[in-house]
Parts: sequence; structure tokens; C-alpha cells
Amino acid sequence: MSNKMWGGRFQSGPDAIMEEINASIDFDKRLWAQDIRGSLAHLAMLEKQGIVAAADAKAIADGLEVVRGEIESGSFTFSRALEDIHMNVESRLAAIAGPAAGRLHTARSRNDQVATDFKLWVRDTIDDLDAQLKDLMTALAERALAFSGAVMPGFTHLQSAQPVTFGHHLLAYVEMLGRDRGRFADARRRLNECPLGAAALAGTSFPIDRHATAKALGFDRPTANSLDSVSDRDFVLEALAAASITAMHLSRFAEEIVIWTTPQFAFVALSDKFTTGSSIMPQKRNPDAAELVRGKAGRVVGALVGLITMMKGLPLAYGKDMQEDKEPAFDALQTLSLCTAAMAGMVRDMVPDLKRMKAAAGSGYATATDLADWLVRELNLPFREAHHVTGRLVGIAADAKLPLEKLSLAEMQAVEPRIHQGLFAVLGVEKSVRSRTSYGGTAPANVKAQARKWLKALAK
Ligand code: ARG
Repeated sequence: MSNKMWGGRFQSGPDAIMEEINASIDFDKRLWAQDIRGSLAHLAMLEKQGIVAAADAKAIADGLEVVRGEIESGSFTFSRALEDIHMNVESRLAAIAGPAAGRLHTARSRNDQVATDFKLWVRDTIDDLDAQLKDLMTALAERALAFSGAVMPGFTHLQSAQPVTFGHHLLAYVEMLGRDRGRFADARRRLNECPLGAAALAGTSFPIDRHATAKALGFDRPTANSLDSVSDRDFVLEALAAASITAMHLSRFAEEIVIWTTPQFAFVALSDKFTTGSSIMPQKRNPDAAELVRGKAGRVVGALVGLITMMKGLPLAYGKDMQEDKEPAFDALQTLSLCTAAMAGMVRDMVPDLKRMKAAAGSGYATATDLADWLVRELNLPFREAHHVTGRLVGIAADAKLPLEKLSLAEMQAVEPRIHQGLFAVLGVEKSVRSRTSYGGTAPANVKAQARKWLKALAK
């Protein structure tokens, strides 16, 4: 049987393989609510413009509500022969509302319809993700406030660098996630133009009111160029780009959790709720959730790369290739949502081992910079010379397998005679972090103020 939506020009139906490669209903049925919403807005406009008579409009609107009820209750039968969500809804509508249903598709094509539906879906998803990211930031900022003075090693090259506080480290992720929310908000702002009414590619000769449908669907305005309207997928790409950067941030944090929870580091312990055991090794507590957040970031980036690669060769306007936009976007944004929730869960109940962190902060000569700074301040040495003197002292201490503060004053004076007892005061890790009071520095008072500032902003 040839297709009842366009069968006029066809003698036979599609090959089974054609149907298999062509059908998108298995995944785009997720757009059903957006599809009905878009159709109702289009219909109201057609009626207001005198393009569809009131009686027909009522029959169509009532029919769409019946379809909505059937999908919501699970009694709707989705058919692959009908390709996608748009044809499935329209076909069922025809069965319910009769010939009037055929008037709904006036001045519209599936090309502007799918662009509109997908924009509505991406927009809703961005809003949900924003709320989730805000929640994760709040969890981080709360714990940062609680641990504003907890000393831990700060690393560069994953080598002990200088002491920092745990709160400061957590707030670094709050900054990243704040930028991520900004990127999603930016994407949302640019997305918010309505393609509906661009029709297949050239616009329409019917006296439609695109400003009305744009407004009814919560868009700021209609898109300005009909060709661009149906061939643009920037809004998906931008959302996936923002998602990729966010996933990269979550992955870096996940990697740190994996490192911190090893028995060798043991800086933090995850709760039982976010840990798994081993079927053979009874001692194991594995950070699977963190590992999966790290691993799933690849899927999110993969979606972006796949979609941008698919788009880059397409001539204007619509090409069926573009149907490939949905699965990766659904998967990537859903994956990011799950990862964000998992991170918030881990952050809320992970327990830092403050003693161990502090002890680790003191190892690896992490206060060597404080020593060099002291030489500059007290002895007025140029920093480069102070660096050299300190390097020699660290070398002597390392050879003797001693921490810096265990060198005697005489040993120090052998390198730089003007060093006096006052130096020993700066070699402690607490003293080190307290001295880092420059704007954005790790001093506990700074961290406390930053955490409070964030919590206030996030509570709005
Ligand atoms: N299922 C299609 C998609 O997702 C809808 C648009 C079909 N348009 C067309 N001209 N065949 O892109």
C-alpha cells in the first residue's frame, strides 16, 4: 500500500529496508508533547487568520487532545510505517477528526515542524539542566564553606605544589559550573527564535502570522530567513558544546575523586550509597559512579563531534541526514543530567579525612615558596635569588630525607648566613594558606567570603 500522506504519486509502498532506515519514530516519539503543542499554536493562528474555519479548528483541536490522552495513557499505537512522530500524530488525528484534520498541515511542512519541536525540547532540557547544575553548585559551595580552612595539598603536574584549602578546591568547580550555566543560557537565548511557518524552505503564500505562533510557543520572535529556519541545527550544536564542556568539568572532578579515594591518597571517602564492592576482593570500595562520570563524558563529546560532522557537508536547506540529530542529542543531554545528579550525590555525602589531607599538604616541600617569599620580604633578596637559595635548602633536606622545618638553623645559615629563627614560622601549612590573602587566593577568610557570595547568588 502506498503512503496515505503522499501516496498520490506512488504506486507501491517502501521496501522493508527503506522503512527501517527511514523511520525515526522509535526515538522521536519523545517529541510528542512538543509536536502537539506546536500544532495547537499553528492551528490557533490558522483560525485567527481565517485560513481554517472555526468548526474545523475545533474538530482538530479536540482531536489533538484525544491523541494527547492516548499517548499519555499508553494506548496510542506508534507505527513505523508512518515514519516519525509528526506523521503518527497526524494520521491518528485524521482517524479521530475526519477530513478536517487534513487542514492542519496548511502553510506548514515537517521541516519547520521538526525544527520547532526539537527547539522546544532542547529548550526544556536546557532549563532542567540549569536547575541541576545550580543544585550541584549549591552542594559544592555548602561544603566549601564548611571546609574553608581545611588544608590539603594543591597540585601542579599532580606533584605537591603549595598548600590550599579543601574549600578553595571545591569552589574552583563552582566557578567552572557557573561558566557552564552561562554557556547554556547563551545557547538558550540564541535558540529562542521560532522556525514554524518557514514551511518546507521558502515560506508560504498563505497569510500566516508567524509572530503570533512564535509568541504562543514562548519564543522571542520568528526566525528571519526561511531557508536558515529549516536547515539550522546550531541550537543543538551549541547545547552539545555547552554540555561537552560541562561533562569535561565533571570528568576532571570525577578523576580527582578516583585519585582521592585510593587507599594511597585516602583524602576522602565516598558514602556506601555511591560506592560499589568487588565480587572477589572483600576489602574493595570502588568509586564506580565517579569512574562512570569520567567515562560518560566521552559520549557527550562524541555526540557533538558526530553531529557537527554530519552537518558540515549539507547544502541548504533540509536534508534527511538531519534526522540523525536527535539520538545523539537525546543521549548526550540525558547522560549529562545523570552525571550531574551523581556528582551532587557524591559531593553531598563524601567525608574528607582532614588529618590526612593536612599531613599530605606538609609533605613534598610544599611550603618552599613560602620560604622563598620570606627571603624576599625579610632579607630583601630578589625573588630569583631567593628561589635559588630555597632550592639548595630543599636539596639538602631531601638528601637528608627531612622536611624543611627539620633542618637546623646552622644548616640553613650555611646556605644563606642572614637567615634567622623567624623563618621557621612560615614553614607551617596553616600559616602558608592563611598568608594567601590576594584576591582569589586560598586564605580561609577569602574562601569563606567566596562561598558565602556564591550561596547567596545561588539562593536567588
Ligand atoms: N523525521 C524527520 C526529521 O526528524 C522530519 C522531517 C522530515 N522532512 C522531510 N522532508 N522528509 O528530520
